[in-house]
Amino acid sequence: MSALTQVSATPGLAGYMAEVEAGLARAVAVEPGLAQEVAGEALAAGGKRLRPLLCFLTADGRPSIPAGVSVEMVHMATLVHDDLVDGARLRRGLPAAWSVYGADAAKAAGDYLYACAFSVLAETGDESAVATLAEAALCLARGEAMQKLQLHDPDTPVDAYLERCALKTGKLIEAACLLGSGGDARLGAYGLNLGIAFQIADDILDCAGETQQTGKIPGTDLREGTPTMPLLLAAAQDELVRAALAGGPLDGALVAVAATDALERSRDAALDYAARARSFLGSLAHRDELEALTYAVVDRAG
Ligand code: IPE
Ligand code: IPE
Ligand code: MG
Ligand code: MG
Ligand code: MG
Repeated sequence: MSALTQVSATPGLAGYMAEVEAGLARAVAVEPGLAQEVAGEALAAGGKRLRPLLCFLTADGRPSIPAGVSVEMVHMATLVHDDLVDGARLRRGLPAAWSVYGADAAKAAGDYLYACAFSVLAETGDESAVATLAEAALCLARGEAMQKLQLHDPDTPVDAYLERCALKTGKLIEAACLLGSGGDARLGAYGLNLGIAFQIADDILDCAGETQQTGKIPGTDLREGTPTMPLLLAAAQDELVRAALAGGPLDGALVAVAATDALERSRDAALDYAARARSFLGSLAHRDELEALTYAVVDRAG
């Protein structure tokens, strides 16, 4: 994300992120054992740290460290579980936890990260923040359950896909903005729409991204039969893609997706959500950075 480099120069941000990193390392170290080892490795692999960044940028005054730590830990928990569910072997350019340590250890590490996240936030005594994060975690589980029901269905309505994106990705990014801002509803709406744009962009990258930049192996969604927007739009135009999404042979299907206008139309949809996100930004200390992010989440290579 090139605009992210520009945003990362924001005064005070580097210090905040360093404190979040220290907080993550401290939080994950509380219960020594295999789950801690696996979770610690997953956190050490890095990532864009988009959610703590949003906690910082949406704060009016001193940004909360526990907010950034807890929201990133929930994110990390979902990724450790997600790679197991998706059979994805690469994450952040490194072997996924389940592929190194096995399914049981990955489940335990994800559960451990969830527990640590809530423990960190509960320590602040801020009940409404805990309720916000809990709601996001519940929505995530609902979104993933919804996805399971939609697997291999090329007739999944695009609206149902968008609802799934809101639940599994938008709600946690909304939570990052709510925790950062102390519950500002407009910034929450910004985050929800930004998150939907972010997931559509991720789904485009799964069709057309480069492992070198995403740190992930493309084609995972098609292989698993996950009906994403680009795959649904392409399936409506191309029989080979439709059959592949329904569980048939995959050969040539991603090339066929790229030959349709599905990637471009999905990008347009992501840009629409990004514009919707921008419409919720009033006069804020970090308005420019929050605005830059709405472009960066769509036009990114990783
Ligand atoms: C990946 O999230 C999962 C989705 C919600 C699409 P990120 O792309 O934010 O992952 P990292 O933290 O930067 O690795
Ligand atoms: C997002 O979906 C995962 C969660 C929100 C848990 P993906 O399954 O597409 O995420 P990646 O592509 O593996 O990061
Ligand atoms: Mg995945
Ligand atoms: Mg997934
Ligand atoms: Mg993906």
